[in-house]
Parts: sequence; structure tokens; C-alpha cells
Amino acid sequence: MQEKKILVTGGAGFIGSHLVRHFVHKYPDYTIVNLDKLTYAGNLGNLTDIENMPNYRFEKGDIADKECIERLFGTYRFDAVIHLAAESHVDRSITGPDTFIMTNVVGTANLLNACRKAWKGQEGRFYHVSTDEVYGSLGMEGLFTERTPYDPRSPYSASKASSDHLVRAWGHTYGIDIVISNCSNNYGPNQFPEKLLPLAINNIKQNKPVPVYGKGENVRDWLFVEDHVAAIDLIYHRGKSGETYNVGGKNEWRNIDLIKLLCRIMDDRLERRPGESAGLISFVTDRAGHDLRYAIDTSKIESVLGWEPSVTFEKGLEMTVDWYLANEGWLASVLSGEYENYYREQYEQRDDKR
Ligand code: NAD
Ligand code: DAU
Repeated sequence: MQEKKILVTGGAGFIGSHLVRHFVHKYPDYTIVNLDKLTYAGNLGNLTDIENMPNYRFEKGDIADKECIERLFGTYRFDAVIHLAAESHVDRSITGPDTFIMTNVVGTANLLNACRKAWKGQEGRFYHVSTDEVYGSLGMEGLFTERTPYDPRSPYSASKASSDHLVRAWGHTYGIDIVISNCSNNYGPNQFPEKLLPLAINNIKQNKPVPVYGKGENVRDWLFVEDHVAAIDLIYHRGKSGETYNVGGKNEWRNIDLIKLLCRIMDDRLERRPGESAGLISFVTDRAGHDLRYAIDTSKIESVLGWEPSVTFEKGLEMTVDWYLANEGWLASVLSGEYENYYREQYEQRDDKR
């Protein structure tokens, strides 16, 4: 195996921590440098089991800080960058878009410029982990393919679309070896409880209302985080330069149906009477500009790279619920301080439509 130094950005976040752990264990000859600002979403508690591994380093820093990036590229001679650092939550982008521009757009440009200076042509690989939200919103039919025109509709998705464009432009203009993947909704352990599933698990556990936006008719495609990590591994190693790969679970759920399924699992795990958790469902004011449906055509990554999801949704959801119930300390640590303010700001102004 070839010795390599890989910079992973955002490796203390939800997907990033699963990816870092996977790479550190599977590729002992790679040195994985995790650069993370440790925002509210970054948590070194996600990585305690690997913090002393000889091929792992952590660097605290901000990708929007050009000098910090230049310093890091001066210290390490990176062979590749897998870029996940981002502001990732749509609701936060609606109430405060500025940090999304700084991190997702300016931060990505800083990383690309550092690669341009460090690498001559195709020396290194820049992999941008992106989202299906760049394609906009579907009606009840159809799928996003790699050729679907970009049509981002939230500040978050517009910032991710911008960063995708920057990555392609730096590849085209400066000859950097780039790849991009656009993935649907991930779920699994270590996800910050602002996202629908961990938020609902926590609220059900605490007997608090479970906020469902609008009528709960919006559709999302759900993929277990480890399946996304397996796709990133394949694309990083075997994806063709300049190409995009869509990643998804072929697993569409209306939000309300998903929450009802979750409530049944929670009733079972918490030994509640059937229907008790579902009684907490509360239909609230919709998200502004709420995209109706995301769904992915995964035929390219399946046929070209032989990837497909391996974890069934029933199994993945049960594993996720069990992880949150077994990791009360993790949950308590991320629920303290800032989270209460966030929750109040986001949810107090949403009327209960019951
Ligand atoms: P997350 O919010 O859980 O983690 C983001 C990480 O980035 C955190 O550790 C945070 O501290 C770090 N970060 C934020 N700003 C930074 C900055 N300026 N400098 C350095 N680090 C910074 O996000 P996630 O859900 O793990 O998503 C990771 C990536 O995957 C993002 O780029 C996101 O757009 C993309 N993505 C996420 C999903 C999903 O369902 N969660 C799906 C598709 C794509
Ligand atoms: O599609 C990939 C994207 O999935 C990623 O790029 C984003 O980083 C990630 O946050 C996720 O975006 P969503 O907006 O789809 O995820 P979220 O968990 O916020 O919401 C999922 C659905 O549930 C969405 O239709 C909004 C709805 N929702 C969400 C919350 C937080 C509710 O009904 N109630 C809620 O309290």
C-alpha cells in the first residue's frame, strides 16, 4: 500500500468522524490529518477511540482562515484532501446565512487555492463531499441524476452549489484532479440533534413534542452513514478525475411516515404502550422554501464502481435508536448550553398546527 498524507476537513462532525475512523483503521499506511474548527457540530468525543492511533492527527482550525490553511499545507505535504467541513443545517442557513458563505464558499476556495499552490497539475486529489440539495426540489416523480441542472433553493444548498462550481472550475482551469459526490440524507450514530431523526429520538425520549414541518408530506431519501462512508472510500480511490457521483439509499420516506415508524420503534424500546410516542407528533409551521422531495438515481455509482447500500432501513434505524439510548452521556454533552437557545429560537416561533 502506498504511503499517503490525507487532509480530511470536518472530521469531527457526523459523517466526517465515521469517515476518519474508517480510513484510520482500514489504511494504516495513510496518515489522516483531521482539520476541524469544532463548531457546535464538531465533537472530539466522536473520535476518542482513535485519538491515539499512530496514523491520526487532529488540527483545530478554520477553513475560512487563509493563513491557517497555508500554515497547515506548509507543515504537511498532503497527497489529497477529502473536504467535508461545512455548515450543514438548512434551518440555520435560513436564520443566519453568513457563516454558510464564509465556511462553505470562502473556506472551499481557500482549500482549493492551497492545493493549487502545493500541487503541480494532477499530483494530488481534491474530493468534495457534497449534497443532493444542489439539484433543487423534485415533484412526486423523477430522480436526480448527475446531469440534473443545478437549482439550489436554500442558503445552505446555494452555498454547497457554489462550492461544487468552485471545485469544478479549479479542476478545469488549474488541472487539479477533482471528484465530487452528491449524497442524500444520512442518518446514524453521532448526528447532532438538530437534524430530524436525532431531534425526534431525543424529544420522544424526553416526552416532548416532535415537530413535523407543514403536513409532513415532504420526502427525503435516507442512507445509513456507514454506507455513505463506503461510497466515499470507493470514489476517493477509484472515481474518475473530474466526475460527479450521486449517492443515495433508494429509500424514500414521507417525513410523517418516517416519524410514525420511529415512534413505533421508540414505543418498543422504551416499553411504552403502542401509539404513546406517536401522540407526541406536533405539526408546526413549515420551513421557508421547504424542498418537497429529494430522490437519487444511483445507477452510475452502482454500475461504474459497484457500490450499493448494504444496511436495510429497518436495521439502520433500530441501530441508530439503540445508539442514542445507549449513549446518554454523548447526548447530554451536545444538548447543553447553545442547544437550548437554538431550540428556543427555531421552535418557539413555530405554531403547533394540531
Ligand atoms: P456536520 O454539521 O455534522 O459536521 C460539520 C463539521 O465541519 C463539524 O465538525 C464542524 O466543526 C466542521 N466545520 C464547520 N465549519 C468549519 C470551518 N469553518 N472550518 C473547519 N471545520 C468546520 O455535517 P455532516 O452532516 O457530517 O456533513 C458533512 C459534509 O457532508 C458537509 O459538507 C455536508 O454538506 C455534506 N453532506 C451531508 C449530508 C447529511 O445528510 N448530513 C448529506 C450529504 C452531504
Ligand atoms: O439531502 C442531503 C441533506 O440532508 C444534507 O445536505 C444536509 O446537510 C442535511 O441537513 C439534510 O438536509 P434536510 O433539510 O433534508 O435534513 P433535516 O434533518 O433538517 O430535515 C429532514 C426533513 O424533515 C426535511 O423535510 C425537514 C423536516 N423536518 C426537519 C426538522 C429538523 C421536520 O419536519 N421537523 C424538524 O424539526
